[in-house]
Amino acid sequence: MNAFLNSSKLTRDKIRSHARLASSKEREEGAYRAILNRNVSRLSYPDFLVIGARKCGTRALLTMLNLHPQIAVSGPEIHFFDLDENYERGVDWYLRQLPARRPGQLIGEKTPAYFVAIHVPERIRKFEKEVGKRIKLILTVREPVTRVVSDLTQSVAQMNWNVEADSDRINNFVKEKAFHPLSGKVTDEQWQAIGVSQYAYHLEKWWKEFPKSQIHIVNGDRLITNPLSEMIQVSQYLNLSPFDWESSFYFNKTRGFYCLQRYIRDLSSTKIKCLGDTKGRPHPKIEEKIYSQLLEYYKPWNKKLTEMTGIDFEWAI
Ligand code: A3P
Repeated sequence: MNAFLNSSKLTRDKIRSHARLASSKEREEGAYRAILNRNVSRLSYPDFLVIGARKCGTRALLTMLNLHPQIAVSGPEIHFFDLDENYERGVDWYLRQLPARRPGQLIGEKTPAYFVAIHVPERIRKFEKEVGKRIKLILTVREPVTRVVSDLTQSVAQMNWNVEADSDRINNFVKEKAFHPLSGKVTDEQWQAIGVSQYAYHLEKWWKEFPKSQIHIVNGDRLITNPLSEMIQVSQYLNLSPFDWESSFYFNKTRGFYCLQRYIRDLSSTKIKCLGDTKGRPHPKIEEKIYSQLLEYYKPWNKKLTEMTGIDFEWAI
């Protein structure tokens, strides 16, 4: 039976997550109320959130959006709705992390962990009700196995392993993390990297709290190859004024990615910015057998996502 149909396991996971939350729930409720009772309206509320998914181009998306004069974003990830210790700091704290708003601007932040943290949709919904404002949500997704490998690449970098020299070690790491030791099947129990790519599962949770039209989905694969088309769609979703996106990107052959460029009239020069070195890193070579098992594993999830959204991501189904 495929993983998607194994709903009892999903239910068990949800119950476990709820149990973890239960202890902090009352504390968090009290702190939240106390803060809302104070007048927080002097600070700007966010207009949009990039909710994830991790390693699907969230930084690229936010950086590109930030080129538009109507956009102001928080640089660091704020982790307000997902981390209890931040949530308990209250709304005032959250709003202070956001940039100041100039007239006509939209304020946003990105925290990719929002997409998978079980309690986040409910918290954002509650926040919306309290502040009387809808927040536009943006999700970027990417071919799920590539996303897993991107996640793996990050772990490998943190362990100071070399993607080429340590290839065997990396493949053994994947086998150990992604496959059940007895059944040999791909499992999401030990390694969060597997679970994040189950986009349909997480999105269903968001759709319980928000109308479908409130979550705009960006094709993260296309954001890499053709940022223009994705940025035009996001701008329409955010109702931004017309902007010359076309002159805002150029393909940097050395990086193998699009970089950003902006003409500064006062300086009569063009400012160029590529994303940092941690974005667009070379991926390790994954053994063919492992790769195809992972591709197979995600097929039901991909199919479900296509059925739910009506979007053909051109992934294996
Ligand atoms: P890789 O580093 O695995 O290639 P996030 O910002 O959510 O962590 O996503 C990181 C991913 O953004 C990178 O994964 C990269 O593929 C992708 N990306 C999309 N557009 C990019 C760009 N213009 N420059 C660099 N990386 C980009």
